[in-house]
Amino acid sequence: MSDSETEREEAVFREAHQAALEALADVAPEPGVAKPDPILSATGVRRAFGGLVAVDVEHLEVQRGTITALIGPNGAGKTTLFNLLTGFDRPSRGTWEFDGRSAKRLRSYQMAQAGMVRTFQLTKALTRMTVLDNMLIAAPDQLGERLWAGLIHGMWRGQEVGNRAKALRLLERFNLADKCHDYAGELSGGQRKLLEMARALMLEPKMVMLDEPMAGVNPALKQSLLEHIKELREEGMTVLFVEHDMDMIHEIADWVVVMAAGQVITEGTPDQISSDPRVIDAYLGAHHDGAAH
Ligand SMILES: Nc1ncnc2c1ncn2[C@@H]1O[C@H](COP(=O)(O)OP(=O)(O)OP(=O)(O)O)[C@@H](O)[C@H]1O
Ligand SMILES: [Mg+2]
Repeated sequence: MSDSETEREEAVFREAHQAALEALADVAPEPGVAKPDPILSATGVRRAFGGLVAVDVEHLEVQRGTITALIGPNGAGKTTLFNLLTGFDRPSRGTWEFDGRSAKRLRSYQMAQAGMVRTFQLTKALTRMTVLDNMLIAAPDQLGERLWAGLIHGMWRGQEVGNRAKALRLLERFNLADKCHDYAGELSGGQRKLLEMARALMLEPKMVMLDEPMAGVNPALKQSLLEHIKELREEGMTVLFVEHDMDMIHEIADWVVVMAAGQVITEGTPDQISSDPRVIDAYLGAHHDGAAH
């Protein structure tokens, strides 16, 4: 890439970040606060497991084009909320809209088709399949039960060549190209996280939800993951990710949503959040609960 191209690209990157910050500049740091242009908006979403209310979110909006972090102590309901919003689980009640369209009845493959993909806290790379095959199966994998129907009807056979080229480009970008014929099981934990992220991008999503993308990743790879997440915003995607490390959050998040005991207890910029007594209470409370068991 020439110097001027690099400069132009960097300018685009800065602009995307700037736009995200400006969009949130006038948003008050209050739970459930409205955003100027939400890509995702959820109301009254509740999920109980027997007597345990895992998620009870009154209202939550995610601003388009931003990197939003979702934090909260263990058991706060972050993964359950991800599962609900992406159609991997059904709520007891509640509604939500994704990109201007009601998404409550959509199944996971339909959510993916609508442009929302997610990764898992425990990576779901298929270890006895090559890295490249993991990529190629990404689209149908997100299609869930349609996978086999698709195989039988040759629904996407014609797309195979294009998918392969796209997969190789993404593997190149995530520094996994030289591993494309290795089994995914041979990758390190961090490389599997990269593979999961690359795989999510096979569907060219509008929004990516990452559940603890940094967990179990060594410091060198962490930095590269951070850069990849920033790139998603620069490409116009919206990112919602679960993370525990406040340093990481300060480095990449435009906005932070805090959950505790199933509810959104506060939200705001990373600076606002780190000085919010409600956040400190939530973590200490969780610690005390833990100690009591
Ligand atoms: N399938 C399930 N059946 C019963 N209880 C569940 C189920 N899934 C989650 N829970 C419970 O719901 C609560 C929220 O869990 P969840 O995994 O969403 O928390 P989390 O915020 O993602 O936590 P962590 O930071 O540990 O990943 C926990 O008390 C958990 O034990
Ligand atoms: Mg979780």
